[in-house]
Amino acid sequence: MIKIQQNFSLKQSNSFGLDSTAQTFIEADNAEELLDSIKSGRSSFSDLLLLGTGSNILLSKPAVGTVIHPVNTDIMILDEFPEYVLVRCGAGMDWDKFVDWTVNCGYYGLENLSLIPGSVGAAPVQNIGAYGAEVSNWIESVNVIDLESFRTFTLNRDQCGFGYRDSIFKDPVNKKWLVWEVVFRLDKEPRPNLTYKPLKQEFPVGYRPEILEVRNAVIRIRRSKLPDPAEIGNAGSFFKNPVISGCHAALLKENYPDIPAYYHDPETAKIPAGWLIDQCGWKGFREGPVGVYPKQALVLVNYGGATSIQILNLANRIIESVQKSFGIKLEMEVRLI
Ligand code: EPU
Repeated sequence: MIKIQQNFSLKQSNSFGLDSTAQTFIEADNAEELLDSIKSGRSSFSDLLLLGTGSNILLSKPAVGTVIHPVNTDIMILDEFPEYVLVRCGAGMDWDKFVDWTVNCGYYGLENLSLIPGSVGAAPVQNIGAYGAEVSNWIESVNVIDLESFRTFTLNRDQCGFGYRDSIFKDPVNKKWLVWEVVFRLDKEPRPNLTYKPLKQEFPVGYRPEILEVRNAVIRIRRSKLPDPAEIGNAGSFFKNPVISGCHAALLKENYPDIPAYYHDPETAKIPAGWLIDQCGWKGFREGPVGVYPKQALVLVNYGGATSIQILNLANRIIESVQKSFGIKLEMEVRLI
């Protein structure tokens, strides 16, 4: 199936709920049909945007050329071994529906990533992560369509260049690479990951929860801290957690003994941006339709009718104040389009 629409409003296609129009909006669940349509010139793609559910973008342009939105949702078990299983899923599948499916099957790995808004195809692009888990640890390979050369190819995990909220798919030179399918390698052995303290605290000391209990606990924590994009426009964490030098962290610790810092090695520390923004007094701030979510300062929200300029202005004011107070330059986690 391929569906092509002209002058398509993207308001329902981005979780911030911002207004923008796609000249051409293409939905496809079949790779050959999509490629045929592009090759035959039925679908041109000037000013291309590859879009999942738009849960991690800030649409700042009033119009974009062509949007390609995969809607392939097939799940297939490719191979099964005593300890693990290889499962392929189409890019258009809703992320949490897929996680729910894996949990129901008793396949471990993705349960800590429950309820993250977005599609399966977007998961490797952003290398989504939460509650002590990162999707890259569970990806075996990614099937890609290159919309420039019309080639389809597979990248294994090492070739995907995964980093913190980063991958090869974010590199502008690869902007015509469409993630089409993702192959996950999931454990059949129960191995609950309770490294994230607030998740561990959901259970009695020493308790080994079932996979569904972990998923439900993650859902509870997310709902208590993060706004539902269906109710309040937002794109999750607006900024990345900055990584600073160990020296800088030690200096900050002298002035702010309570500063949370996660050391991956003695040389660098990751500081929660939410804490920095909170310390600068922004939590719960509201000006007209834009604001900082009262329960998590890392999330900027559109209470209704905001423009991308208003959101960006607020983001810049936050960046400036964090820079002034802590000497740290926050970087956006959401993709600016
Ligand atoms: N904090 C504050 N004030 C706030 C928010 C946080 O003081 O307003 C402090 C917390 O008390 C805690 C620390 O900052 O000590 C970390 O907060 P939290 O555990 O809520 O996580 P985070 O670092 O703010 C990251 C991810 C989230 C993910 C959570 C849970 C990034 C940019 N964000 O947030 O991911 O859900 O960890 O693992 O890495 C997303 O990417 O959209 C996202 C929501």
